[in-house]
Amino acid sequence: MSPQEPPSDLQEIVEEIHAALAPSFGAGTVADYIPQLAHVDPKRFGLAVATLDGAVHAAGDAAEPFSIQSISKAFLLTLALGRLGESLWTHVGREPSGSAFNSIVQLEAEHGRPRNPFINAGAIVVTDLVLAGHSPREAIGEILRFVRFLADDDTIAIDAEVARSELATGDRNYALAHFMRSFGRLEHEVDKVLGVYFHHCAIAMSCRQMARAGLFLAGGGRSPITGHSVVSPARARRINAVMLTCGHYDASGDFAYRVGLPGKSGVGGGILAIAPGHASIAVWSPGLDANGNSLLGARALEMLARRTGWSVFGA
Ligand code: DON
Repeated sequence: MSPQEPPSDLQEIVEEIHAALAPSFGAGTVADYIPQLAHVDPKRFGLAVATLDGAVHAAGDAAEPFSIQSISKAFLLTLALGRLGESLWTHVGREPSGSAFNSIVQLEAEHGRPRNPFINAGAIVVTDLVLAGHSPREAIGEILRFVRFLADDDTIAIDAEVARSELATGDRNYALAHFMRSFGRLEHEVDKVLGVYFHHCAIAMSCRQMARAGLFLAGGGRSPITGHSVVSPARARRINAVMLTCGHYDASGDFAYRVGLPGKSGVGGGILAIAPGHASIAVWSPGLDANGNSLLGARALEMLARRTGWSVFGA
């Protein structure tokens, strides 16, 4: 994909969005079903835009690590597609669920096959696939190394407190995993699969690191930071398609309408958004809306898409 010149006033745009949202910092509800996440200051806000020329434009708390939570599912999907190729899709679908991220309702009617890899059930199945041939510790190490490779940053780490906190309160994910295993959808024991799942959700990254890690998806599969081809152009396009249609759960349609970019949200308040041919964008604001997506994060991306004309549907 040929890179496009970024707007010359991109740093100003990023700073203006930060300033425009500042009076609202703290809006929304911080996730507390994972107790460790409730300790985060709701007024934090970071925004980083990594462009294909290798520059990063940032404002606010863009250098502060936060819990990436479900955003890990986009990196996990990339890793799993590299391992299994298109046969991954025999294990998990690629249709929007129209249901909450932790919903169980469709699983019974659909014989335990999750709708897509971004709802919790789907990510648990993808985690099980990545675990094949590895101990849980090795699988966690492989996922972390992959994220570090994408961001070209070996300081990225897992917040063990967050992983423990989620494990201690993870009844819903245990229910999903046991239910799927009863349909023969998981090869490994539930404890092992969820041990890996909770750890990749507990990776901590700053907006700067995350924007850099997502850049291969904006660059047709190739990261200008590392110079490596991570995936083929066709695979980057397809991952972006799943992010656009499924990355915000039952609010994916609203996000496409307002922002018009492939995106993946996490209950830590982060969103990774991809402007193909232009940039990878990470925003963090811990207050969530009713669907578990960052309230101000989506607003910031809506403003950015409008100012840059980067929506995939046109300016
Ligand atoms: O499994 C969970 O519930 C969390 N580790 C991740 C959920 C999440 O981030 C949903 N996204 N908005």
